[in-house]
Amino acid sequence: MAVYESSHPLVKHLVNSIRDISIDAAQFRSRIAQIAQLLLYEALTEWKLAPKKIETWIGEKEFGFIDQKEIVFIPILRAGLPMMEGVSELLSEASVGFLAMKRDEETFKPHIFYERFPEIAGKIAILLDPMLATGGSLADAISVVKAKNPARILSLNIVAAPEGVEYVQRLHPNVDVHIAQIDSHLNERKYIIPGLGDAGDRAYNT
Ligand code: PRP
Ligand code: URA
Repeated sequence: MAVYESSHPLVKHLVNSIRDISIDAAQFRSRIAQIAQLLLYEALTEWKLAPKKIETWIGEKEFGFIDQKEIVFIPILRAGLPMMEGVSELLSEASVGFLAMKRDEETFKPHIFYERFPEIAGKIAILLDPMLATGGSLADAISVVKAKNPARILSLNIVAAPEGVEYVQRLHPNVDVHIAQIDSHLNERKYIIPGLGDAGDRAYNT
């Protein structure tokens, strides 16, 4: 697996802006959506464009486009939902699958409680979750998606802990993970420090 941490000042600026607890839930979700768009932009840098004919003002012409039928976005509920809103604005014809997970507050192990996917076999699955803490949720999500035989799996994450990145890297060496910011460490409750706090709670006023 390759881990890519963004070095773009705009990405860092936006991540640091959501550390401020005075921003409200709507602003938090909107910033998460914007950061997800920038992460997608960075993740698609080397993407090959597919030729497609379209009708233009000077007649039919062929241009290069991202083949959106090849892409399945998979937000991890809850906190991945605003990321999905952001990337879906850019690639509105890509399909979306849903995976709902909740990390147990005592054991810190994730539990899957809902999944619903379109066809994934042979496609590019792009997982979306703002927080990569112990890495347990992302590692389990990747295992679920891998079982559906995608051509490739990518993950977009906003804030990560080094421990979680290392864990996912060890279990899933062939997945590319694009992270906006790798923070310092996990605390004793397995929250990322400095991190964002509980991203789902902040996004939805829980
Ligand atoms: C958060 C986050 C990740 C997970 C990361 O979700 O969105 O899915 O924790 O932690 P891990 O790397 O240690 O597994 P949470 O389980 O709190 O659910 P929520 O989105 O409903 O708040
Ligand atoms: N989940 C979160 O939302 N934040 C963390 O720091 C860790 C897990």
